[in-house]
Amino acid sequence: MKPISKAELWATTCFQCHGAEGQSAGGAIPPLAGYPADIMAQQLKAIKAGTRPSTIMKRHLMGYSDADIDAIATYLGSLKP
Ligand code: HEC
Repeated sequence: MKPISKAELWATTCFQCHGAEGQSAGGAIPPLAGYPADIMAQQLKAIKAGTRPSTIMKRHLMGYSDADIDAIATYLGSLKP
């Protein structure tokens, strides 16, 4: 069996709130599967920098570098919505 990538591992931390495999029902917590990677990376970096408002996401993102965020966004964007 192929070991999972770092991006896949990190993405599992998102699924607790955003729904298994990134398929949430929507609303305030958007589904992540198939989310355009460039837009997600832009939004997450702005949240981390504090220029885009959020409640919980900023705290969650503090542990990730910009390169980590790019990897997570690319992986999630590649999932089938
Ligand atoms: C503890 C619950 C929780 C976890 C874990 C979580 N999120 Fe979120 N996410 C939220 C909530 C709540 C919002 C709505 C914005 C806010 O209030 O922070 C949100 C919003 C978002 C948005 C929309 C941002 C925007 O600017 O519109 C994206 C994209 C996102 N999350 C991606 C992720 C990714 C990727 C991960 C994993 C690295 C993750 N989330 C982990 C709860 C969570």
